[in-house]
Amino acid sequence: MTCFIVEGGYALEGSVEIKGAKNSMLPIMAATILNSEQRDIVLENIPDIIDMHMKKKILQSLGLKVNCRANTLYIDSRELCNHSIPAPLMKEMRSSIFIMGPLLARLGKVRVSYPGGCAIGPRPIDLHLKGLEALGARIWEEKGIIVASTSGLKGAEIHLDYPSVGATENLMMAAVLARGSTVVHNAAREPEIIDLQNFLNAMGAQVRGAGTETLRIKGVDSLGSCCYRIIPDRIVAGTFLMAGAITGGRVTVSGIIPSHLDAVVAKMQEAGVIIESAGDSLSVLNGRLKAVETLRTLPYPGFPTDLQSPMMALLTRAEGKSNIVESVFEARFKHVDELNRMHARISVQGRTALVEGCAALRGAEVWATDLRAGAALVMAGLAAEGRTIVRDVRHIDRGYEKFDRELQKLGAHVTRVEETDGVCKLPVSVHI
Ligand code: EPZ
Repeated sequence: MTCFIVEGGYALEGSVEIKGAKNSMLPIMAATILNSEQRDIVLENIPDIIDMHMKKKILQSLGLKVNCRANTLYIDSRELCNHSIPAPLMKEMRSSIFIMGPLLARLGKVRVSYPGGCAIGPRPIDLHLKGLEALGARIWEEKGIIVASTSGLKGAEIHLDYPSVGATENLMMAAVLARGSTVVHNAAREPEIIDLQNFLNAMGAQVRGAGTETLRIKGVDSLGSCCYRIIPDRIVAGTFLMAGAITGGRVTVSGIIPSHLDAVVAKMQEAGVIIESAGDSLSVLNGRLKAVETLRTLPYPGFPTDLQSPMMALLTRAEGKSNIVESVFEARFKHVDELNRMHARISVQGRTALVEGCAALRGAEVWATDLRAGAALVMAGLAAEGRTIVRDVRHIDRGYEKFDRELQKLGAHVTRVEETDGVCKLPVSVHI
């Protein structure tokens, strides 16, 4: 198991260039299945993270040729030949459920296991399955495997009970090759949905309305290859801004689309953080942190659930009491126990966490329970007195490219260490 050893007390200073968005890359990689042309699809601004390599393996298991060089993916889907994803790969990655839509559209059949739940709560897929059935798929279960087949998808009018990001993406990818037109009401409005629409349209699809709650898709006969650049990762950008703020430093994130972080910037300013915007970058300057009455996570354009744990870490250093309401996922507070091990003072009642700020955080041994919680624990370690060991940082590597190296460039004292016999200790030569 890999861990980070973090020495607290150093203010971060400097700039970090933000790479492509994990949650845009994953559905777009799935959508390359829809290409029946003879030429590769080229995807630029790809982050070198575990989830990219996992998705690459899944596409290769279906018969696609996938190569990655210098943050660019080259994907040839002409030899797509398999419609069944090996269960171990499926379990590893919830977002493999996105494969259903494109495989049904391209091959008319798919076999996947139920995606694994994870530390943020059960991850149902009922909205995905109901929408695919509305488009003409027949879906049943065989010993824990979901089997779906169709003699040809046809356009439909679909009402999502919840603006699910994954369900919106899956149905968009299924509908682009369906006969006739599809309307998806109560669609998710995240920037990653717009990115997927733009990618599919670059392949020759006819999708409109992404970014609003109504998607309109006109089915076409086939889709071709294209070269496409993924949007920057707004969640990684927000994480580095909060890392700068929690250490009382000055950090700039560049190569971003600032408007994607409007709700995050507003909430950080409410917490006393001074933020400047210039072109494709945002900078945090030192400010006096203060509690926010309520932080409620919501679907976009509300405050993103993926920045709930980093914001919680920040608020442990603010004066006063803050209420954090996690309204998107059922159980996304696993990081509370870990932060309390560092002498934070946080109590949970249902979906609300009460953060009593200004805790003098102290270094401790803590466990990353998901990628955002892991990043939040590293942030807390940066502001804590003494040494923090964050264990199982593979979670962080799933969504943050070289997180330790980027933090080191900003002046953080963070060292990546492989544990030996269950112990994470600094190599003798390294003094942090
Ligand atoms: C996507 O997950 C992201 N993952 C998540 O990011 C993100 O937290 C989430 O959207 C919300 O923004 C990817 O894009 C790969 P949802 P997804 O479907 O699609 C319920 C990260 O840290 N629901 O919008 O799984 C569900 O249980 C990850 O990068 C159903 O009830 O999220 C949840 O409570 C974590 N039935 C809520 O909707 C369904 O069929 C939101 O889920 C689908 C979802």
